[in-house]
Amino acid sequence: MISSLALLAAVAVQPAPLALIPAPRSVQVQAGTYTLKPGALIIADAAALPAASHVARDLEPAFGTRFQVATKGRNPAIRISLNGNASLGPEGYSLTIGKSGVEIKAKSPAGAFYGLQTVRQLLPVEVFSTVKQTRDWTLPYVQITDSPRFGWRGSMMDSCRHFMPKEFVKKYIDQLSQLKINTFHWHLTDDQGWRIEIKRYPKLTSVGAWRRNIDEQKADQPHKYRYQGMFSRPDMYGGYYTQEEIREIVAYAADRHVTIVPEIEMPGHASAAIAAYPELGNFPDKQREVVASWGVMSGVFNVEDSTVKFLQNVLDEVVELFPSRFIHIGGDEAPKIEWEQSPRAQELMKQRGLKDEHELQSWFIRQMDRHLTSKGRKLIGWSEILEGGLAENAAVMSWLGTSGGIQAARTGHDAVMAPTSHTYLDYYQSADRSREPQAIGGHVPLYLTYRFEPIPAELEPQFHHHILGVQGQIWTEYIQHPKQFEYMAFPRMCAIAEVGWSPKSARDFKSFMARLDGHLPRLERQDVMFRRPDASQWPAEIGWTPETLAAGTLRWDVSKWVNQPGQYRVTFAYTHGSHGAEMSQVRLTQAGSFQLTSPLSGFAGHASTNHTHTFNVKSLGAGEPVWLSAQMVGRGGGDSAGEIRIERVGNAVP
Ligand code: ACM
Repeated sequence: MISSLALLAAVAVQPAPLALIPAPRSVQVQAGTYTLKPGALIIADAAALPAASHVARDLEPAFGTRFQVATKGRNPAIRISLNGNASLGPEGYSLTIGKSGVEIKAKSPAGAFYGLQTVRQLLPVEVFSTVKQTRDWTLPYVQITDSPRFGWRGSMMDSCRHFMPKEFVKKYIDQLSQLKINTFHWHLTDDQGWRIEIKRYPKLTSVGAWRRNIDEQKADQPHKYRYQGMFSRPDMYGGYYTQEEIREIVAYAADRHVTIVPEIEMPGHASAAIAAYPELGNFPDKQREVVASWGVMSGVFNVEDSTVKFLQNVLDEVVELFPSRFIHIGGDEAPKIEWEQSPRAQELMKQRGLKDEHELQSWFIRQMDRHLTSKGRKLIGWSEILEGGLAENAAVMSWLGTSGGIQAARTGHDAVMAPTSHTYLDYYQSADRSREPQAIGGHVPLYLTYRFEPIPAELEPQFHHHILGVQGQIWTEYIQHPKQFEYMAFPRMCAIAEVGWSPKSARDFKSFMARLDGHLPRLERQDVMFRRPDASQWPAEIGWTPETLAAGTLRWDVSKWVNQPGQYRVTFAYTHGSHGAEMSQVRLTQAGSFQLTSPLSGFAGHASTNHTHTFNVKSLGAGEPVWLSAQMVGRGGGDSAGEIRIERVGNAVP
């Protein structure tokens, strides 16, 4: 009797898993629920009133009426104070939900905001609906203590290759803020379009924001999605943000404790600016237009003092618009060929006592570093700004692996980890490309992003504090539409959020996937597209590593998957390493029953070819295992690793 009562109590207390993303530092669930009623009172310290009003507005449709928000009053449902524990830092908070309601303590408005985001995620998913309802909702009794692991939790949007409309930029920033992501890196200038109005140089947008609207039928360049207001010229593709629109977006983000870090690319990825102002280029007589194809272009800014001044003037307007401490100046993928070929660039290089074109690039970046430093700002650039010497005050965004970040940290510079291997969310999410929208290449499934560790094992502890955090990148060469952008962002940005926020010890992919089950319906209710997780988002059970690759012939027992007649698709998916691997003699074998050999030789790497092999298994014998085997060799190097996925894709063909 007693034991069954105890069991009953245990069942009653057993909490449903709380779908909190990112996972908080500590959560204790208690028995009981608190009912939050329409029109309830929220009291907050004055500095936390904007955060309170913000969330009150977000919850209004679900409760059918607005909460009252004030600095004092009787019987509040939610109390927010800024006299929290300083050890939780500026973004931390504690949250208690019990009989007397919800209490949030933080040290700053950001912490209060994050505490309220957690409250929102503790409410039933229906509160994320924008459809008006009038009812009350319950919250579980909990005690949460929370603070972020890293101060830079970022997401990069490329608005150049394809223009992302203002309303979408805001919608995306709102999603980021729900995941406690605090940095929106906005890539605003590139070869294919200059997207920010600069009052002093109007041609940057009147010319530089528009490119030829090339053949829509070319699979590589489909510009088939069009927006109201986006195209004022039917023959051209483009768009830009006015300064007024930028101010609106910056304020919208600030309201959600998101800092926008603008990126103005230099000295490479500069074709659009040079098309607008040819005197900025190395060969001003050469006719240029805004580039209408993808890749790394040879056109870079020249190194005249007047060009440096031009770009500093641009940065002056940028600094006026964006309060961010960090200003991103690009610095990646700047081919040196024009500087090598230009007699004038060579002359300036010698005059300045620089030994080569890498030092010239470094000189160029230093001019911007000094300028931004004089304005009280801090320069950040991609890995390549390390080449030829890193500018005094610069921070590095490490995209070519994590080595650039390590090098920066060891020399006393800050770094943000943004490696292609785990954080390039424009890469394919699944090894089976035939069922994904066309993407730029690569393969970054959800688990791989989740597995990313921003502090490299080889980095000495005294330099760890220089690793500011982590960021997910979404370049848009192959992403024309906001819906497709969302599909690439989610749920992988949820993984980035957790990598950046949650303690390393709390990172658990299985738990994350269970909580994601509760988060995806929130995205649905907010009309946010995402890729629904399936088996392809979990680590594969078989694959290759540099060690197994060394054997040359590799063999895997695949009886578990190939267990009935059918057509099987076997995909060799590269996951990391600098070199891909070639495979041939790909075979599916069962002793005494069949030996099937794929006619294809393939390559699994960043740009894979024939890495998918299909086998028609007409019948299986009993008792013998089914083996997959392949001859494999690294192309150019043996450091590749990858996974192998096997799917039954249809009935056997007789
Ligand atoms: C980059 O992907 N070129 C930073």
